[in-house]
Amino acid sequence: MLLVVVIMLAGGLAACGGGGDDDDGGADAADDPVASEAQAFFIEAGCAECHGENGEGDGVNQRTEIRGTRMIIQQFRQRVRNGRGSAMPGYTEEQVSEEQLQMLWEWLRD
Ligand code: HEC
Repeated sequence: MLLVVVIMLAGGLAACGGGGDDDDGGADAADDPVASEAQAFFIEAGCAECHGENGEGDGVNQRTEIRGTRMIIQQFRQRVRNGRGSAMPGYTEEQVSEEQLQMLWEWLRD
């Protein structure tokens, strides 16, 4: 049973990766390259400073907990583009491209 689940997951990932533009099977391919790329960007873009390295939040402001978000992509995009209140900055497409935005959303929803 577990084996079936593992195979299904692997199949799903492979199907996803097939649509990507960076499918070179690099050294860390075994270790979910999509997730680590998303996380690397989350840290690089500065999101992690307020949202924690996994989006788990800063431990103070509950609203910074965005791991497991139920937002639909349109809401997520609006928050990231427009920011919110004084604490959440907005990001232009130059800072966070549409693809990167989508990648972060997919990673956080997991
Ligand atoms: C300077 C701190 C800071 C940075 C940097 C930051 N955020 Fe936020 N973010 C916040 C705070 C604080 C909130 C909660 C705002 C509120 O609703 O009061 C928030 C809210 C959000 C929300 C909405 C959560 C909800 O349930 O309404 C999303 C999505 C989000 N941030 C994504 C990001 C992403 C992606 C990045 C990086 C590109 C980022 N944030 C960078 C502080 C930050």
